[in-house]
Amino acid sequence: MTDLSKNFGSLEAVKSIDFEINDGEIVGFLGVNGAGKTTTLRMITGFLVPTGGTVYVDDLNILDHAYEIQKQIGYLAELNPLYSEMSVYDFLEFIADIRKIRGKQFKEALARVVEQCGLKGVVHRTISNCSKGFRQRIGLASTMIHDPDILILDEPVTGLDPNQIVEIRGLIKELGKEKLVLMSSHILQEIQVTVDRIIIIHEGEIVADGTNEELMSNFMGNVHLTMEVKDATIDSVSNIESAIPSVKFLNSEPKNGHQILHLEYSREDDPREELFKFAVDSKWIILSMNPHTANLEDIFRSLTVTGGANA
Ligand SMILES: Nc1ncnc2c1ncn2[C@@H]1O[C@H](COP(=O)(O)OP(=O)(O)O)[C@@H](O)[C@H]1O
Ligand SMILES: [Mg+2]
Repeated sequence: MTDLSKNFGSLEAVKSIDFEINDGEIVGFLGVNGAGKTTTLRMITGFLVPTGGTVYVDDLNILDHAYEIQKQIGYLAELNPLYSEMSVYDFLEFIADIRKIRGKQFKEALARVVEQCGLKGVVHRTISNCSKGFRQRIGLASTMIHDPDILILDEPVTGLDPNQIVEIRGLIKELGKEKLVLMSSHILQEIQVTVDRIIIIHEGEIVADGTNEELMSNFMGNVHLTMEVKDATIDSVSNIESAIPSVKFLNSEPKNGHQILHLEYSREDDPREELFKFAVDSKWIILSMNPHTANLEDIFRSLTVTGGANA
């Protein structure tokens, strides 16, 4: 895609984003709620017309070739809407019928998705009687009934319990061996182990794009400091950056009546002494200071903080 953007009235939900995905890749599309993931995915799948820019699939422009492209794409929308009073069989037959896959062709497609998505044994069950994990499999099966080469999955593991997440992850990884998969999430851990590459979107803009290793190496040399303090006022927290220029304030969260501060600094410029003095001057009590080399979670956090101190 090139320079893709979408405005909703005066809101620029997606701002001129550019990325390319190649066959055989499993790509995670990561961003906090409201970052612009769903809007982007809906433009890629042709459900939403961009305000600017274009999506290309194999050199075909989605505006001119929506029908051909939609044949190649399976799209699992956020929240996975299913007709819960239908049986799995009836639902898949209904979805196949929309794509004019009927009769013998449907039987073959059904056998294929039942195998691919592990639906043996539940085909004749009513959807409302299936567990959430199975419903997600049914959703996946419905997006794959026409055997697309590309799977676009909007938050496919959100709302599942940890066991179900592991299960659906495994399934997506398996499908990714044959298909291009682009899956979104607002939770790094949900996708980190599934994908080969992570694209991070923040306020409608791409702020990072690379493999786990690439993202890590770009941020190596940065140290993250988790500090637990008592009696820190919002005012004093928001002064850290101006008092100690080598410190970047990421965010803070309350914990048991204390504050957990997440800070970042460069390895060459260790500010811990100054931080200690600053804390004393601000009448904070330091309960702990834990420096560690940045991990992907920290990178995500530092790329998606909005504004300065929001203690
Ligand atoms: N149909 C719409 N009309 C107006 N604003 C929208 C619409 N869809 C999304 N938005 C806004 O666009 C921004 C991006 O939303 P969305 O793409 O759903 O983010 P995400 O999927 O990353 O949570 C949000 O601020 C959201 O409120
Ligand atoms: Mg969304």
